[in-house]
Amino acid sequence: MAKYILIQDAMKQGKGRVAIRGWIYRERGSNKLKFVTLRDSSNIIQCVFDRQKFAAQWNDIDKLQVEAALEIEGEIKADARAPTGFEVQAEKINIVGKSDSFPITKDQSVEFLAENRHLWLRSRKMTAIMKVRSTVFGAIDEYFKGEGFYEYHSPIFQSVQCEGGSTLFEVDYFGKKKEVFLAQTWQLYAEPAIFALEKIYTIAPSFRAEKSKTSRHLTEYWHAEMEMAWSKFKDIQDHGEKLIKHIVKQVLEKNKADLELLGRDVKKLEPTINKPFVRMTYDDALKILKEKYKMIIDWGKDLRTIEEDNLSTLYDTPIICTHYPKIVKAFYMIEEPGRSEVVQGCDFIAPEGYGEIIGGSQREHDIEKIKERLRDQGEDPKEYEFYLDTRRYGSVPHGGFGMGVERVISWICGLDNIKDAIPFPRTMERYKP
Ligand code: 4AD
Ligand code: MG
Repeated sequence: MAKYILIQDAMKQGKGRVAIRGWIYRERGSNKLKFVTLRDSSNIIQCVFDRQKFAAQWNDIDKLQVEAALEIEGEIKADARAPTGFEVQAEKINIVGKSDSFPITKDQSVEFLAENRHLWLRSRKMTAIMKVRSTVFGAIDEYFKGEGFYEYHSPIFQSVQCEGGSTLFEVDYFGKKKEVFLAQTWQLYAEPAIFALEKIYTIAPSFRAEKSKTSRHLTEYWHAEMEMAWSKFKDIQDHGEKLIKHIVKQVLEKNKADLELLGRDVKKLEPTINKPFVRMTYDDALKILKEKYKMIIDWGKDLRTIEEDNLSTLYDTPIICTHYPKIVKAFYMIEEPGRSEVVQGCDFIAPEGYGEIIGGSQREHDIEKIKERLRDQGEDPKEYEFYLDTRRYGSVPHGGFGMGVERVISWICGLDNIKDAIPFPRTMERYKP
């Protein structure tokens, strides 16, 4: 039995006999030769079949179509004319799985590719993005474990809102109405656990009934969140910065080839690793927008996409924007001491117009203030009794943040749309296949 190796490793070997396997990426032939570009998870390579050597199998080889699965043994050698600089002279072939005419050919519409997402995943573009995605998930785990955080899990079926009722997905829970929702965040079920574990994190799906059809909103996305006891507001910002630096560093180390395939200019990512992030308050942001863009924002209005994008183009690292007006932020954010109209909340705005990648805050500990702000939002504090208990029994200063993993992948890969940062994107209009 041949020992199959990855195409990438075969090219590293560079000469001699190799056994490789994968799927046909391209094929062309004459009545003497068949050229097959074979694709596996690692790379592609040109393979040549000479009719004289394969007289018995020629009929089948001649009919091979794109995406057929093959095992091939042969001699590898450098060949400047081949797409990846090497060619395999095939000596043995095993046709493992024939392929019908593959529906995805050149120049298909975005819509067609979305309908055939299960097949489009095999594209080199999606393969490269999924590899970056794998690195990003690994880096998040590595960062938090390295900083002494425990991995912890919140429920997905939840009975309260945390980030505003308008983006809640209601679930028909055995016929009960308006009682069970899909998680927007782990937060309200994470805060109770810091009294046991102190420092916790998760990577889990979050759900937002976002009616917006933008290039940065999904209805289901992966949310990396952390919560820690005894924190100061600065600790939350520092962890966010260190986490993003760690992720980008890992991707630049492990996914150079993938970023190149995606046409990403990696120079644009380097400042994120090498420079401290720009930190500014909401008030600073308004001043800068006025000075640089002549944009007048009424104090108390949230920063919109256009404002975030304008700010982001002024800097080459993410921006940590802090101290937003209380009225635009969630009920759990603590007031700035001596300035009760603003809160200790922070948004991380990615460079190059990729928008908010992290939202976090120091948490309010005053029960009465929390109740009042819940009431202001039309919520019944009674539903939050379990959460309010966190403030009744040994409450400590604490805080946390949530990072939209697809937003980060989208930025790192330089994608046009967040939909390509996840294998099967879910949006208002797309829930199939
Ligand atoms: O700013 P958000 O709403 O914050 C929270 O959910 C907090 N409870 C997190 C915490 O403190 N534990 O969401 C956090 C991040 C955003 O900064 C954004 O990156 C991402 O989640 N996000 C989305 N990503 C993709 N599609 C959407 N519809 C998103 N909504 C938020
Ligand atoms: Mg936010």
